[in-house]
Amino acid sequence: MLCRLLVRAGAEVQVVMTAAAKEFITPLTMATLSRRPILVEFFDPENGAWHSHVSLGEWADCYLVAPATANTLAKMATGVADNLLLTAYLSARCPVLVAPAMDLDMYAHYATQQNLRSLADHGVRIVEPASGELASGLEGKGRMAEPETIVRAVEELFAEKKKPLAGKRFVVTAGATIEPIDPVRFLSNHSSGKMGYALAEELAARGARVTLVSGRTALATPAGVERVDVLTAAEMHRAAVEAFAEADGAVMCAAVADYTPCEVAASKIKKSDEGDWMLRLKRTQDIAAELGGAKGGRLLVGFALETDDERAHAVDKLERKHFDFIVLNSLRDAGAGFRGDTNKVTLIDRAGSEELPLLSKRETAARIVDKIESCITK
Ligand code: CTP
Repeated sequence: MLCRLLVRAGAEVQVVMTAAAKEFITPLTMATLSRRPILVEFFDPENGAWHSHVSLGEWADCYLVAPATANTLAKMATGVADNLLLTAYLSARCPVLVAPAMDLDMYAHYATQQNLRSLADHGVRIVEPASGELASGLEGKGRMAEPETIVRAVEELFAEKKKPLAGKRFVVTAGATIEPIDPVRFLSNHSSGKMGYALAEELAARGARVTLVSGRTALATPAGVERVDVLTAAEMHRAAVEAFAEADGAVMCAAVADYTPCEVAASKIKKSDEGDWMLRLKRTQDIAAELGGAKGGRLLVGFALETDDERAHAVDKLERKHFDFIVLNSLRDAGAGFRGDTNKVTLIDRAGSEELPLLSKRETAARIVDKIESCITK
């Protein structure tokens, strides 16, 4: 059925069967459905022709293992190469999908789950099995996903492959941090998070995997974006550093508090008529500067919001925090800045600068991501 659907969708399908698979369905059936001879052995037993797993791995645009047994998954995860399916997997340069199918206990077993995690960590897509009645007669999760679901997963993969930032991971910090003074009061700023959210959305729309480390905002999470909510600069620091470890780049759009109260009162501070109230503040960590210091070959984009001497301050931050480029907002420009839906920015790197017109934040995000793309593919 799966093979028939793939052929009907216009795919050229080369079936590789393991010896065990031949016990379930005859090679003749599969050859008829796929309109090609199937491959099982390294050599054709009839005429000795060598079936090159390397050329199979190069030929395919997608390698789909369905049904993937616990045995095959374990071998894939550990690099065992004792049949053609496995050697082709080890040589595959294309995306790989597996559709596990097995008994519920085998599926739930830690060893199988560990193998699946290990495969997923190395980019193999898992088409989750469904729940229902299994070959053993038991009920549970382990039945191979419906053929239509598997075909959809293949189609999604091809759609993603066409996207320019597919396979790239980005961290975006956005919104305002909140530094508590006591249980009812805090220090914060006017950032709405709109620019950062628009950037996260644009990066995801172009195929990137995005972790959005978000301070306080009223915005909805953009589609396809993983959001980590934080409150304070210290929490944002922790989340951003962790996400950056796995990332290809980061966009530092958050308005992070530079100072936080030295002490947070456990109960509400009462007013008094005796003189002024002094609140002692200490510096927070500069997240962007820290990521910049350890960025290696990764891309780092910063923001600067200035009120005077804008360009000089922005260039100073570009250098000090090791940004690849910086997005300068001037509060003096009408339509730029915090709460609105428009922005007017200048993109500055070491080669020069580009002043963008007044645009919606969505359009501004698209122009910034154009520059990110050109930096990444350079
Ligand atoms: N930034 C950060 N962590 C901080 C402070 C800033 O990641 N603790 C990032 C912002 O997200 C932005 C850039 O650094 O990308 C802005 O730097 P900076 O101008 O130093 O922030 P300001 O607080 O505006 O600094 P200054 O008071 O020097 O103008």
